[in-house]
Amino acid sequence: MNAPTFTPAMPLQRKLEQGQLMVNGQPVRRDVEDRTSLADFVRDRCGLTGTHLGCEHGVCGACTLLVDGKPVRSCITLAADCEGHSVQTIEGYDGNALMEQLRKAFTIHHALQCGYCTPGMLATAHDIATRLPDADEKRVRLELSGNICRCTGYVGIVRAIMSVLAERKEQALMPGASVSTTLTPATSAPQGRAGAEPAASAAAAGWQSFEAATAAAGAVPSASVAPASVAPASVAPLPGADQPGVNKKAWSRIDDHVDIQAPIDQVWETMRDVRQLAACLPGAEITETNGNTISGRVGIKFGPITAAFKGTAVLVRQEEERAGNLKGGGTDSISHSRASADIGYRLVSIDAGRATRIEITLQHMLQGPLAQFSRSNLVRDFVRRMITDFGRNLDARLTGAAPGAAPPAASANGFALLGSLLGSWLKRLFGGK
Ligand code: FES
Ligand code: FES
Repeated sequence: MNAPTFTPAMPLQRKLEQGQLMVNGQPVRRDVEDRTSLADFVRDRCGLTGTHLGCEHGVCGACTLLVDGKPVRSCITLAADCEGHSVQTIEGYDGNALMEQLRKAFTIHHALQCGYCTPGMLATAHDIATRLPDADEKRVRLELSGNICRCTGYVGIVRAIMSVLAERKEQALMPGASVSTTLTPATSAPQGRAGAEPAASAAAAGWQSFEAATAAAGAVPSASVAPASVAPASVAPLPGADQPGVNKKAWSRIDDHVDIQAPIDQVWETMRDVRQLAACLPGAEITETNGNTISGRVGIKFGPITAAFKGTAVLVRQEEERAGNLKGGGTDSISHSRASADIGYRLVSIDAGRATRIEITLQHMLQGPLAQFSRSNLVRDFVRRMITDFGRNLDARLTGAAPGAAPPAASANGFALLGSLLGSWLKRLFGGK
């Protein structure tokens, strides 16, 4: 009898054409499987082995590099998703004044021993010095909480970063001085691994915007290049979006909207019932309402980690403006991470009064072990999906239509955790009961 034959499933292949992906300022052209992580791509396909892999679960931060100037964990980012974006690995900083200062400071303050965490630490440190030039030590430690070092005890790393921040402040005060926070073109080639494919280019330029880099390289992005993010929907500031006396410089902000196929009066009235609205998002429960104060909890599971956030928020509704603001915070009883959120929303009549747009501005801040997930575009995208699913379910309730696709499972991936956390605030966003 003939043995049965099996046809192995072919992995999906994506061709990253020249100009669709920039690595260290140079366009690259590679075939890549859809499942290939960005870390494997830069290490194995571009020969840029300065990006290290530790946990490969998005926890340790060793693989941190910059995409469009923002730190991401390359072990849980797909290379194919980086079409149309600029990737900056540790090999691409030569000629960058800030990175030069950081490297010197790491040496002076003994901020490394084995050096395995160092490429990720430096990428994060570069982000801190660029984004938070006035950060104090507490803030630096908080920002570093997503990068694990098994050797140093962090003291030297924190000192090194603090010294660079101080140095740059002094430089800024010197007459005629200018402190560069942008990456400048590199002067030397990236160090590719022997035997690997040639690195992205012989000369690695510093990070630039994708458009600038492709223009400089004479490359035209493909029409299929995905936009970096969804365009914000709201033009006017929403209630609570910017409050006097609250320093939200370090908070993340998301502007989005959902369209509901029901007139504005009907939507506004329905939004008074927070319990009904909470049911539009999975895993959430309103436990108590007392005037404007709402208490609730949300259970989340991702991978091996379980979180249970409990929180309280105060809701203020502006009847005339058909707008509102929800402000509050909560704590995960398991990881002891803390979340603060400030959500503004406004209803706008659209489609000749037949439908309603809910414009949303969500600002949030995560502290503690889960803070490591808070600076990712994936989080942003995930929260947007949560908003979309929330709108779909609310729409179904209002119109009596069959509910839309089920909301994404909270256990889908690591970023679902933060998404669900933010969703817990969204679901308490609407209504006054
Ligand atoms: Fe990517 Fe640990 S290897 S976070
Ligand atoms: Fe060894 Fe950080 S220096 S892990």
